[in-house]
Amino acid sequence: MTRIGIIGTGFVADLYMRSLETAQGLDLIGAHDVRDARLSQFCEYWNVKAFETRDALLSAIGPGGILLNLTNPLAHYEISKAGLAAGCHVYSEKPLAMRMDHAQDLHALAAKAGLMLASAPCSFLGEAAQTVGAALRGAVAGKPRLIYAELDDGFIPQAPYAKWQSESGAPWPAGDEFRVGCTLEHAGYYLTWLIALFGSVRTVVAASSRQVSDQLPVDDPAPDVSVAILFFASGVMARLTCSIIAPHDHALRIICDKGVIELDEAWNNAAKVRFRRRFAIRRRLVSAPFARTLRVPGPTRPKTGRWGSASMNFMLGVSEMAEAIVQNRPSRMSADLALHLTEVTLAIQNAGETTGAQTMRSRCDPIQPMPWAQRLKRGRR
Ligand SMILES: NC(=O)c1ccc[n+]([C@@H]2O[C@H](COP(=O)([O-])OP(=O)(O)OC[C@H]3O[C@@H](n4cnc5c(N)ncnc54)[C@H](O)[C@@H]3O)[C@@H](O)[C@H]2O)c1
Repeated sequence: MTRIGIIGTGFVADLYMRSLETAQGLDLIGAHDVRDARLSQFCEYWNVKAFETRDALLSAIGPGGILLNLTNPLAHYEISKAGLAAGCHVYSEKPLAMRMDHAQDLHALAAKAGLMLASAPCSFLGEAAQTVGAALRGAVAGKPRLIYAELDDGFIPQAPYAKWQSESGAPWPAGDEFRVGCTLEHAGYYLTWLIALFGSVRTVVAASSRQVSDQLPVDDPAPDVSVAILFFASGVMARLTCSIIAPHDHALRIICDKGVIELDEAWNNAAKVRFRRRFAIRRRLVSAPFARTLRVPGPTRPKTGRWGSASMNFMLGVSEMAEAIVQNRPSRMSADLALHLTEVTLAIQNAGETTGAQTMRSRCDPIQPMPWAQRLKRGRR
């Protein structure tokens, strides 16, 4: 069993607890939060031991255990640093840090201490993302040329978000979400997939803007829309869009020589992956009206039910780290991935109107597929 502990028992911590029910080999030691009332509410609901101080929890997790840093983004750097200093591996919610120098510092500290450092999201370890990888490796669609990835959430300023709350009663942290912004919050849901599949982004050309800031209940909102063109070192190019304005669209389309690999929802580990062939009939170029569903055979990874807009297993990343510890191998949730994800995301978020091409300095190699996702089974049309 690998010891784990949670710091930050807010909205997302409940999603981790539901996901924990599907995980094996993890021993949750306890949790800590600076807000006593919320800590008690969470610990009573889930029957988890409450720790009054951060350091008491860190020493209970102990060297070699995993700290889950589920605090607000502004606290991530300080808490992850404390976790590493206590000898714990760290799994941080996104973003790894709000500043690149802080992310680099954590990366260097983890390397020096020989500890794992990971940043959410971990959905690239899930069935949908792994199926996309198997399809690309299996040359189902031919060479990938261009990717369109959308993370538009709908017109959130008009959503009844004041009524949104987690299972044990934490309110959706609207102020935080708007101050941190949809790019830092969400770009990773496809960026991690793309980096895992195609490796490092070489150049980012992006724009970001505050188009609805007058409708948000905070004084200092982050950009509410961003559009990025990503040039990968391996040659493929992607367009990634994040907004809390445009109609909900979480589609991914990988345009390849023989057709398009597509899926509708980044936030569903079990989203159907389809291949839509392209062909010519007489003088017309046609996309197949019926797409073929692609599947990997056999058991994949445990899935969780739906909560709000997500059907994701938040524990896949922590389980991957725990397996890596037991098997004494590098984790797919690597510190290089966390750092590169942070650099690319910050470049997009901070692009504004006039920033030109930005050359990325961090690197991340494509990530080994999961053992169960080596092969693809062709499903029915
Ligand atoms: N809300 C979501 O739907 C969602 C989904 C996925 C990921 N996330 C990510 O999860 C993280 C947490 O988000 P959330 O929605 O749970 O926010 P939240 O505000 O509901 O919870 C964060 C908790 O961290 C605690 N905290 C802050 N600083 C702390 C410190 N120094 N020490 C101990 N506790 C501290 C707060 O008191 C709070 O209870 C963020 O990084 C966010 O991006 C959120």
